[in-house]
Amino acid sequence: MSLLIAPSILAADFANLQTEVEMLNSSSADYIHVDIMDGVFVPNISFGIPVTQAIKKHAEKPLDVHLMIVEPDRYLEAFRDAGADIISVHYEACPHLHRSLQAIKALGAKAGVAINPHTSIDLLKDVIQDIDLVCMMSVNPGFGGQKFIENTYDKIARLKDLILSKGASTKIEIDGGVNIQNAPKLIEAGADVLVAGSFVFNSPQPIETIKELKSIKTR
Ligand code: DX5
Ligand code: ZN
Repeated sequence: MSLLIAPSILAADFANLQTEVEMLNSSSADYIHVDIMDGVFVPNISFGIPVTQAIKKHAEKPLDVHLMIVEPDRYLEAFRDAGADIISVHYEACPHLHRSLQAIKALGAKAGVAINPHTSIDLLKDVIQDIDLVCMMSVNPGFGGQKFIENTYDKIARLKDLILSKGASTKIEIDGGVNIQNAPKLIEAGADVLVAGSFVFNSPQPIETIKELKSIKTR
């Protein structure tokens, strides 16, 4: 499987969203990662449904929507209607995770599960075959630009083993603090999708930066 890059629009210039989305369209990015924060599940508020719709209006790449919100089931349809192609809910916010995944799939989207740094991958054992993508947090969710948590490498390897042992086709996405230094090791450990916010948008030439990440070869 070739490596996929998902720049996080959270680090973009919100006053020029159309330009930023067009920049991503013309880059080698695979998805546009859209971070939704409600100020309850995480201690920060980002943006919601109308902004997701506005991004979709210009996007030529799939929207990878990461819901950092409580009771995500209430908003799945609204985000799907707003243009989400992949919807990830947090394990920690879903008492009936299997039902949430079925609901996402019934809407025609790919179903993702995001897990916080403290959440063990063993908890996904009985549901891994129903998950299209695991968004493994490599920072505590809530803010861009945080420091990468080193324990992630080991966690990726264990998740990869679980996926293989169950014969599942789940993709492993790494979210938080990704840069050109840690990316090779993440890919080596088994990552399929790398989210990168500040590393892409704060770089002098984001299109080049995306290309550099995309062309890392370790396997
Ligand atoms: C964190 C978000 C991440 C974040 C990544 O809560 O889920 O997607 O935007 O940003 P960087 O790459 O700057 O850590
Ligand atoms: Zn995210």
